[in-house]
Formats: sequence, C-alpha cells, structure tokens
Amino acid sequence: MMTLRIALSGEASARDYPIVIGDRVLWESRCFLVEACPSRRVVVVSDDRVWGLHGGVLATLLTQWGFVFEPVIVPEGEQSKSLTCLAFLYNAFCGFRLRRDDTVIAFGGGVVGDLAGFGAATFLRGVPFVQIPTTLMAQVDSGVGGKVAVNLPQGKNLAGCFYQPRLVVADVSLLETLDKRDWDSGMAEAVKYAALGDDGLGEIFREPVAESDLTRIVWLCCAAKGRFVMEDELDQGVRALLNFGHTFAHALETFYGYGTYRHGEAVARGMLIASEVGSRLGVSVPGTGAALKGMLDNAGIEGRLTENVDEGVLDFLPLIQADKKNPGGVEAVDEVALVLLRELGDAYVHKIRYEDLVEVFANSRSGLVVDRCLT
Ligand SMILES: NC(=O)c1ccc[n+]([C@@H]2O[C@H](COP(=O)([O-])OP(=O)(O)OC[C@H]3O[C@@H](n4cnc5c(N)ncnc54)[C@H](O)[C@@H]3O)[C@@H](O)[C@H]2O)c1
Repeated sequence: MMTLRIALSGEASARDYPIVIGDRVLWESRCFLVEACPSRRVVVVSDDRVWGLHGGVLATLLTQWGFVFEPVIVPEGEQSKSLTCLAFLYNAFCGFRLRRDDTVIAFGGGVVGDLAGFGAATFLRGVPFVQIPTTLMAQVDSGVGGKVAVNLPQGKNLAGCFYQPRLVVADVSLLETLDKRDWDSGMAEAVKYAALGDDGLGEIFREPVAESDLTRIVWLCCAAKGRFVMEDELDQGVRALLNFGHTFAHALETFYGYGTYRHGEAVARGMLIASEVGSRLGVSVPGTGAALKGMLDNAGIEGRLTENVDEGVLDFLPLIQADKKNPGGVEAVDEVALVLLRELGDAYVHKIRYEDLVEVFANSRSGLVVDRCLT
C-alpha cells in the first residue's frame, strides 16, 4: 500500500486528505474509511455496471466494518452526469436522511465521481465525500483534485464547483474488469502527465507499458496532479495546464454527443490536435507531435484514435468558442485559450483569435498530422 497526502494550503489545511494506492487496498482501507466517515452512515453512489461487478465486495466490507449504507445506482455512462441524475441523488439523500456528518462515497469512474461529488458539495451545503475510483481515468485523474460537476445541454461540466474528497482509495485490482476503451481512456490522461513533464511517467511511456507498471502509473499521476492542485487548488493559474488537449476534447464530446467518445479517447485526439496547432503555428519544436504519438502508442492506445486526428476538426471547431475556460466564458467569443506544447514538458496557455485558429485548419488538407510531424 502506498499513501500520498494532498496538502491544501492556508486555512484550507483541515481539508488535507490521503490517497491510498495499490493492489487490493480496498480490503485494507478500514481505518482510512472509518476516519473519513466518522458517523459510519454512508450513501454509496455507483453506476449499474460497477455495482454489478464490484458492489458485492464493497457492500460486504462496509457491513463487516460496521457501516450503515444505502447504494444509489445510476445508469452507466456520461449521460448520467446530468441534472436529472443529480435530482435523483438529492431524492435518495433525503430518503436516507443524510446528515451533515454522514458521507457520500463515489464508487465508480469519473462520471460517478463528478456527479456524486457535486451532489455531496451541494446537499446541506456540503457533506463529507470519499472517492473510490474504479476506472483508470478516475484513478489517474478525476478522483483527485476536487473538481465536481454535471453537464448541461449547452456544454460539459458547466454546473460544478471545487469540493475536495476526504479520502481517495485507488485499488488497481478493480481495474481488471475494465474494457479496452476505458483502459485507453485512462492511459490517455496518464500520457498527458508525461507530456506535461513528469519524468517518471516519461520514462515509463518510452517503452511499451507492462502490466507491472500499473500501480506506479497511478501513483505518479496522482502525485503529479497533486502538485498542480496543491499549487493552484482553484484553477487560477498553473492548473490550467492540465487542460492540455481538453479544449478540443470537450468540443469533440459535445459535437458527437456525450458518450460517443470516452473522455480520455477525446483527450488523446485533443492532445494531438493541440500539438498539431503548435506545429502549424511554429511554436513547437519539430517532432513534438511525433513524440507524443509515440507515448500514446506505447500506452497501447488504439491507432484509430491517434491517426488522422485533424479529420473533421472544422466541423466541431465552432464548439470550442463555448468552452468555459475561454477568456469570455461560455458566450461565443472571438478569442480562445489553448494549452500548447513548446516541447514535451513545456506547456503554456496560448490565446488565439478564433478566426486564426480556423485558418490553421482551413489551410491544411493533409489530414495526416503525425506523418507531418515525423518528417
Ligand atoms: N473531475 C475531474 O477532475 C475530471 C478529470 C477528468 C475527467 N473527468 C470526467 O470523468 C468522466 C470520465 O470518466 P471515466 O472515463 O471514468 O468514465 P465513466 O465513469 O463513464 O466510466 C467508463 C465506463 O467504465 C465502467 N466502469 C467503471 N469502473 C469499471 C470497472 N472497474 N470495471 C468495468 N467497468 C467499469 C463504467 O460503468 C462506464 O461504463 C467524464 O465525465 C470527465 O469529464 C473529470
């Protein structure tokens, strides 16, 4: 078992929390859970797939450890990160008579974590919250850092807030049942941390990933994300770099409908599109896109996600004008903020007029982003 501590600065320090990482650590997490959930009354939010696969284990452990709990199960998939499911949660919290010293446990992927976290943050103006992430995506990224949200029809994550968990338990044994697409999705976020300069991850993705690398990947990603969160909890500065690839990813996800692309699949494409923008604007060192693609390949990510990535960009590009990270907010704006790479490990925020960005793609008919980077 490995334990990391997220130390939040200033008055917030009472909200510091541990991240427990390892193989079968769920079975060993009694003390952590008891500390995080002192009343031992908990609502467990999960999705039908996760609960069907792993709910029995969690239910048995909670019962053995003297917890009173109520499972609240939403349908699997991005569609559940909705106002409708949020209302369903509030209703279940009321039915359980959830009090301010009781706890909401998110047991699932990023969808469940974001939804349950936003429910916990807003019910009774905030009840304690614990993350037990069950996807690679959630273990390497979304389970840590306290961003919680639901989607609105107008865009992803538009209703949300910052709300840190009291505990994260990342048990890699739960990932054995993940399907290939969800595996790729999580690996893409892990590659993002390598692209942003984590040396340990860069080392791992220099070669094809082995199963034995898994715990170390989760550990390094949590540590990397933790560093960003500890420096900039409320996303006013350096944390913005974690959006590398995400502006394009969110537009892709919205354009094709939530759930068509897994979030990380869209991020893999989004990172390559961003590196292509850097290359076409002449701000990236030649070969940066190829190096990124090499890491995605070594992470085992399906080639269909990382080839011809600028195909169709002009179709979904208008949606990036409504990204909430833009200087003008969610209103359609003239200028957009992109995270670009000067080279691997050197990311920065690049503001560009929307029209100029359209030009970047309108002037290219190659469609072969990576081939261009390789030459
Ligand atoms: N809050 C953040 O900081 C943050 C960061 C990144 C992503 N996100 C959000 O996370 C979401 C994506 O997360 P995700 O990729 O985990 O998606 P997800 O929660 O939809 O999970 C993907 C699929 O995997 C299934 N699943 C979960 N655990 C499983 C297991 N152990 N075995 C088998 N199947 C399992 C789920 O039922 C679902 O079908 C997006 O909504 C994204 O916006 C949030």
